[in-house]
Amino acid sequence: MKAIVWTKYGSPNFLELKEVAKPIPKNNEVLVKVFAVSINSWDWELLMGVPFVNRLMAGLLKPKRITILGCDIAGRVEAVGKNVTQFQAGDEVFGDLSRCGWGGFAEYVCARENALALKPSIMTYEQAAATPQAGLLALQGLRKGQIKQEETQPKQMVLINGASGGVGSFAVQMAKSFGAEVTGVCSTGKMEMVRSLGADHVIDYKQEDFTKNGQHYDLILDVKGYHSLFDYRRALNPKGRYVMAGGSTALVNQLIFLGPWISMAGNKKMGLLMHKANKGLDCMIALFEAGKAIPVIDSCYPLSEVAEAMRYFGEGNAKGKVVITLEPDNRSG
Ligand SMILES: NC(=O)c1ccc[n+]([C@@H]2O[C@H](COP(=O)([O-])OP(=O)(O)OC[C@H]3O[C@@H](n4cnc5c(N)ncnc54)[C@H](OP(=O)(O)O)[C@@H]3O)[C@@H](O)[C@H]2O)c1
Repeated sequence: MKAIVWTKYGSPNFLELKEVAKPIPKNNEVLVKVFAVSINSWDWELLMGVPFVNRLMAGLLKPKRITILGCDIAGRVEAVGKNVTQFQAGDEVFGDLSRCGWGGFAEYVCARENALALKPSIMTYEQAAATPQAGLLALQGLRKGQIKQEETQPKQMVLINGASGGVGSFAVQMAKSFGAEVTGVCSTGKMEMVRSLGADHVIDYKQEDFTKNGQHYDLILDVKGYHSLFDYRRALNPKGRYVMAGGSTALVNQLIFLGPWISMAGNKKMGLLMHKANKGLDCMIALFEAGKAIPVIDSCYPLSEVAEAMRYFGEGNAKGKVVITLEPDNRSG
């Protein structure tokens, strides 16, 4: 089969289209013919080997344990291992394979059955591949911040920092549909898109520092955190929550060492979001079907152009998600 093999850290130049052996499913695995796979910032961080903690997962000096990137896949079940009970050949599935070996930038991939869900027929393969990791980081972040469906009274003030990317574009839609008043933070060229997702207010981080403008929020969901913990605390309402999904290593360290003390000492809670792959995928499906979490797809690339797609993503060009599409004309039957 064809796959994009990853050989070194540091650049999309180290992603090469190669012919490799088609994987064989173990007893508890499903072999999926991949039709679409999306790029997540975790793919980018692994590729670059930064932050260093990613190398503990993939290999210290060069990628060893993961040699094919891509974790959010959608496709059709080709074969199942003998202990698999939930799926059969022909099923249309999707899921996040970041806890079971990655390998999505390929024509076929094996996955444990608990990493997959049935794809609703109204969701395209591209939409399905764009959803699991980004959508669930957004959903899990809102839940950690106590913003839940049907909790509309009193109206909660939610700020999404990094609102134009994969996670942020889901978070804006969901927070809005849960009844919150939503502020999105992004760069100048993407403000209109964030507004179109339902944000009530949009802040251009190049023009304005939201931690210093006197506004206060019940939840700050941070996709790209780089302010200090004390800046975030200042921008919270009493009983407000700061939830960090991603950002600088310095901020992660502050959160680990100071977050629990700040949370204990006052009435504002500050914590890190630990992504739980596929937890809540059923809820994502329901939100999609209700029109409350529709992935924003910036662009699609063929498998042979994964390196270009990664470069485009890594340069910060994308509005929403970038998707790799396989066999778009040959998916039926
Ligand atoms: N917690 C976990 O367990 C876990 C697991 C996986 C991933 N993650 C993290 O989750 C995040 C996922 O991000 P994503 O996929 O949504 O990334 P993305 O698609 O690249 O989006 C990044 C967003 O950040 C914005 N941004 C960039 N610089 C900014 C700044 N200085 N201030 C405010 N916003 C800024 C971008 O806005 P513009 O494009 O408009 O500049 C864009 O909206 C990553 O940080 C990743 O490390 C966390």
